[in-house]
Amino acid sequence: MTSARPLVIDCDPGHDDAVALLLAVGSPQIDLRAVTTTFGNCSVDDATRNAVQILTLAGVTDVPVARGAAGALDGVSTLGNYVHGASGLDGPAMPDPAFEVAQEGAVELLRRVIESSDEPVTVAATGPITNVAQLLLDHAQVKDGIAEIIFMGGSTERGNHTPTAEFNTFADPEALDVVLRSGLPVRMVGLNLTHQALATPEVVRRMAAMDHTVGQTSAAWMGFFGDSYNKVWEFDAPPVHDPCTIAALIDPDVISWREAFVAVELDGRWTRGTTVVDLHHRYAEERPNCQVAMTLDAGRYWDLVIEAIDRVGRRP
Ligand code: RIB
Ligand code: CA
Repeated sequence: MTSARPLVIDCDPGHDDAVALLLAVGSPQIDLRAVTTTFGNCSVDDATRNAVQILTLAGVTDVPVARGAAGALDGVSTLGNYVHGASGLDGPAMPDPAFEVAQEGAVELLRRVIESSDEPVTVAATGPITNVAQLLLDHAQVKDGIAEIIFMGGSTERGNHTPTAEFNTFADPEALDVVLRSGLPVRMVGLNLTHQALATPEVVRRMAAMDHTVGQTSAAWMGFFGDSYNKVWEFDAPPVHDPCTIAALIDPDVISWREAFVAVELDGRWTRGTTVVDLHHRYAEERPNCQVAMTLDAGRYWDLVIEAIDRVGRRP
């Protein structure tokens, strides 16, 4: 087997971010070097506590967690507690944090981990991409140490937080604009893809059948998340967005991709935060800047997620 991929995850846990973290720490193909947190599904303070509790649940106490942005580059703090609950991770009880949050901030931790790595580091962003944009703005030299940026956000079709804008991109469109203009390899995992990653009753049953706390907790997260998605968007089963970014790093065949020019709307009164994905090269003067996720092998995806959760849960 080739060596594990060095990875940092910038997230706003968040029920689906939580499953993404479990997928990462439960997969031998991934070498998780750091977790950084951002506002989004909840306040950054709640997201930070949640991240430490999730890693504690997974028995992982040696991956640093650093607190990041409390709001977007423009200072605005759009929160998604309407989906994830007051704590940002409502539902099952979580263990008390087993380790302290890093003293340094998210941008500094990202910079230090990337610059000290002996090989390029992949950056996965599953919340508003503010920390990653700030890193690129403040420390442009780190680009040489970044293998790629893969982010959950945007959509080739409709949005969720607004009719046209997906939550992460709506929460900080200027930040996504910075990333899209960075010249780095960027992969976009949008709602068009993640709405294929539904936690159906069969998926939840597989989680609930695991005879350990990690599996039971994951099933309970899907219960809360599913109720929210049914109330707000009338889904019968919740789309578990964020682990799709990690699954793509584990198995290159789990998602099909299409190269395209992607822009994010910054000014539209009704469309701010919308990703404009030029799948048919209609903007002849624009060069493709992104690989866009198009089709998910849902069976393979859920096998990867379930196997990782079970691996984590069975660790002594
Ligand atoms: O729109 C879905 C995205 O917004 C997911 O990353 C979810 O966790 C929230 O951050
Ligand atoms: Ca998220």
